[in-house]
Parts: sequence; structure tokens; C-alpha cells
Amino acid sequence: MYTGNEAGGHGGAKAPPLSSFLQAVLTAIPDGPVVIAAGGVSTGAQIAALLTQGAAGVVLGTRFLFTPECPYSAEKKAVLISSDLNATKRGMAFDEVNRTMGWPEGIDGRAIANDIFTDYLEGAGLEERLKGYDESTAKGETNRLVIWAGVGAGLINEIKRATVSTSVIIGSTAETKIKFPGCIQRVARGDSEIIESSLASTLVMCPRCLFERKIVFKVTGSLADRNSIDLNSGSRS
Ligand SMILES: Cc1cc2nc3c(=O)[nH]c(=O)nc-3n(C[C@H](O)[C@H](O)[C@H](O)COP(=O)(O)O)c2cc1C
Repeated sequence: MYTGNEAGGHGGAKAPPLSSFLQAVLTAIPDGPVVIAAGGVSTGAQIAALLTQGAAGVVLGTRFLFTPECPYSAEKKAVLISSDLNATKRGMAFDEVNRTMGWPEGIDGRAIANDIFTDYLEGAGLEERLKGYDESTAKGETNRLVIWAGVGAGLINEIKRATVSTSVIIGSTAETKIKFPGCIQRVARGDSEIIESSLASTLVMCPRCLFERKIVFKVTGSLADRNSIDLNSGSRS
């Protein structure tokens, strides 16, 4: 899985933007393993473009923050709805005040760049930033919430049920005549099943790629235990 710099949550601090990253990978290893793309993808047109470019599948995370199923608070969702393409930034400032440090070297997190980020840019020391964060939290203020989200948050401006969101994504994918049009319905069905069990990260795979290569995918990271995904009911090649 190749995750571009646009991605929400934690990932490679120096990852290139997804489209260029994907192209470089596909050129470097044309006969390599299945390549999954992630980062900043919120619409069906983007999925279609990435599949056409050569990705075997696409992972969406931020898109599913805009659902009633997502456990983010109403305050966080309101911030997300009003966010634009420049609303998020990468860094460690969010983890520092959230007290979620300990990530491996080279990993940082993309989140809504609110006053947590402003405090950091203005040079406030960690102690001062923690105090400001704790006071904001105690008062119930919304300007220092830690809201992990990617650049694709700027493309979505409403909350929709996950299954509806999915049919919108798949629907607009189908319209763009990607190279696997016969697979769209199966993608939609498989995707719906995944969404029911996974809230933070959802895999949209081209089933033809899955079928031909007989691959079983599992979501890795902290979601792994709850969200093992067998899209193919097949065996690992
Ligand atoms: C709110 C949120 C929580 C996430 N939590 C995890 C996680 O626990 N483990 C992980 O490997 N990736 C996590 N991610 C990253 C996603 O798995 C995925 O790589 C990323 O969301 C894709 O980019 P996008 O958000 O731009 O769609 C998270 C992303 C978001 C937005």
C-alpha cells in the first residue's frame, strides 16, 4: 500500500503526493506485487483515475469521517464539514498535546490545523501548549480539538450514511468508464460489507485484480483485529 502525503492520520512524513508517488512505484516495479493507493481520495472520480493509472485498489479513510457511523463528535464533524483543501497540516504538534507520542522515526500525523498548530507555529513551548490544550478541552472549546483528517476533507461538505456514501462513490466511478466497468457492482457489494466492520479505513478493490491474483487482504495497524477483510473468499497466492 502506497500512501501519499495527503492522507489523514499517521503516515510517512516525507511521502510524496499520491499521484506522483503511484506513478513512480508503477514505473519502478511494473511486474511487482499488487499496488494499493491511499491518501486524499474522497470521490469516485479520484478512485477511477487511480485505478486507470494502474493501482489495483484504493484505500479511503477521511471520506468515512463524514458519516453518522463515524464516532467523531458532532463538534469535530462540524469542523470537518467547514474545512477546505488547506485545512489540514502534517506534523507532531497534534500528538504532542494529545499525548500520543511514540511513533516510529519518519512517521507523523495529518490533522485539522487549528490553534494547536498555531500555538506550535508561534513557537510556544510544549508545557505552554499542553496547558492551552488542556484548558481548551476543559472549557469545551472547539478550536483545539485533535481531528485526524486528510486533504480530502476539503472535498466533502455533508454527513451521509456510509452505504449511501459508498453508492455515490461507486456510482460516479461507474460513470467515468474505467477499465474494469464489469466489476463495479461487485466492488459496491464488497465495499458495503467492509464498511459495516470498518470505520477508519476502507478498501475499495478492483475484484478482477483480486480474482486473478487470488489475494486475501487484511487491514493492518491498530484496526487489524477488528477488521480483517476477506474480499475474495479465496486463498492467498
Ligand atoms: C481518523 C483516522 C484514523 C486512522 N487510524 C489509523 C490507524 O489506527 N492505523 C492505521 O494504520 N492507519 C490509520 N489511519 C490512516 C488510514 O488507514 C489511511 O491510510 C488514510 O486514512 C488514507 O488517507 P485518507 O484519510 O486521505 O483517505 C487513520 C486515518 C484517519 C483519517
